[in-house]
Amino acid sequence: MRELNEIKHNRDIYHDSMSDSNIALIGFMGTGKSTVSEYLRDMLAMEEADVDSIIVQDQKMEIKDIFAQYGEEYFRKCESNAIISLQNCRRTIISCGGGAVIREENVINLKKSSRIVLLTASPETILERVKYSDERPILNGNMNVEFIKGLIDKRAAYYEKAADIMVETDRKSVQQICEELVMSLLRFNPGR
Ligand code: S3P
Repeated sequence: MRELNEIKHNRDIYHDSMSDSNIALIGFMGTGKSTVSEYLRDMLAMEEADVDSIIVQDQKMEIKDIFAQYGEEYFRKCESNAIISLQNCRRTIISCGGGAVIREENVINLKKSSRIVLLTASPETILERVKYSDERPILNGNMNVEFIKGLIDKRAAYYEKAADIMVETDRKSVQQICEELVMSLLRFNPGR
């Protein structure tokens, strides 16, 4: 009961302060974007959109098949188009694929109507979360801490430049992550 009241209280404060803004979740594969999106949707009574799912729907193909048949560059074009297609969304949590903010145009388009939240996790945590999945072509054949760490290092500057706020996810429950995220967003955007 206490938890429910707190959630409702947070949601009301959040809506008063954020008006129609979206929340765009960015970060490396396995940082928990989908899990956090689902929890935030219920916590804040917002809509949910997933950039990869839009691509799969548009292309009528799984992400790994798009990579295999048409290559990464084609996938990146689809990703940019999917982000453009979300430009009229409001009060929506937008989960972006782990490579989305490498393209500057995607960051510019996301920033038009979203607060950008970077989720992070250590390479070890990420490996634990993704190791049984073969859905991520970039990690297939590269399922080890060294590769993950190397790619995080290459992408870190893009993630940090795009992000309005950042939340570490190691050893935290989804509830903890979401509460921290909402508090940081409110601090980032004090009562407009
Ligand atoms: C990618 C991340 C994936 C997906 C694609 C490429 C990346 O999304 O967009 O496989 O380049 O990091 P998730 O971060 O949701 O796994």
